[in-house]
Amino acid sequence: MLERIDELEAKAQADLSAVSDAAGLEAFRITYLGSKGAVKGLMGLIKDVPGDQRKAFGQGANAVRAKVEAAFAARSAELGGAGAAGSSGAKAAAGPAVDVTLPGDGVPLGRRHVITQTIDELTEVFARMGFDVETGPEAEDDHHNFVALNIPQTHPARDPRDNFYIQQPAGAAGSPPLLRSQTSTVQIRVMENVKPPVRIISTGRVYRPDEHDATHSSMFHQIEGLYVDKNVTMVDLKTTLIQFAKAYFGADAEVKLVPSYFPFTEPSAELYVKMDLGKGLEWMEVGGCGMIDPAVFEAVGYDPEEWTGFAFGLGIERLTMRKHNIADIRWLYEGDVRFLRQF
Ligand code: DAH
Repeated sequence: MLERIDELEAKAQADLSAVSDAAGLEAFRITYLGSKGAVKGLMGLIKDVPGDQRKAFGQGANAVRAKVEAAFAARSAELGGAGAAGSSGAKAAAGPAVDVTLPGDGVPLGRRHVITQTIDELTEVFARMGFDVETGPEAEDDHHNFVALNIPQTHPARDPRDNFYIQQPAGAAGSPPLLRSQTSTVQIRVMENVKPPVRIISTGRVYRPDEHDATHSSMFHQIEGLYVDKNVTMVDLKTTLIQFAKAYFGADAEVKLVPSYFPFTEPSAELYVKMDLGKGLEWMEVGGCGMIDPAVFEAVGYDPEEWTGFAFGLGIERLTMRKHNIADIRWLYEGDVRFLRQF
């Protein structure tokens, strides 16, 4: 064991005399004197040394350390001064002393993405109106995305060009699952599981193979709302959406409902909000809504004679764009911190 010490010393001396520049010195320091270096390694061997030789081994190792440090300092001085401070190494001696009274460097802080902020704000507004939060899966089955929402097999919304169907193993039976195209799926999941009255919202991602442009993306977020109780009317729906728009955008927000059609509501409407996306104020559709179709109640086992309700589904990106005057939806996904830092 004791020979190991001599061997190390000889090798260190040989290596050191071959060093000719600062980079070589630093490499030497790391190899021999660093925290994982050979001299430290030698100290680590002490536990394998027979008891009666330990003392000698320890002293020998300490002596080698002192010698290698001294030789290193001397060689550093010869080569131009760096490292002359000894065992603390080349780095510590180089450059001016550190002024500990100077302020430190700021650490850049991350922040929540503006879409996440919007989701939290929307959830807060609807929570104040008494809506609970529910969630549902993004990979859905045909039943929750279509059938129970009164979207028949022949409906164009099921077109493979309008949906991201998920490939099934060969021979699998039934309709293939898909990435949900709307958060209306969560309405069904909730009503299948709880008895009315129900008052929930649900936020999350939805997927559609749309062309990307300033207002469309193949993945975006929706907020779904569902309210089921006795004697719910269109007035409740309209009041809820207008109250929401004023609470979220401010009292001067201009909104309107335009008659529309959805298979799962009757009557149905679209919510429009006036927004300026760079070309002056324009009406922009932000989502759909309506009174729940009796066929949907039947699909989930609610009695349509007894229960009434409304639902809505709004595009979270569009709400965000209106709120912050963002002219292009694609900016929301590019991850450019110069853009994201503004919110
Ligand atoms: N799911 C519809 C869509 O994505 C939006 C929608 C319309 C949701 C009417 C609703 C509703 O809850 O009642 O286009």
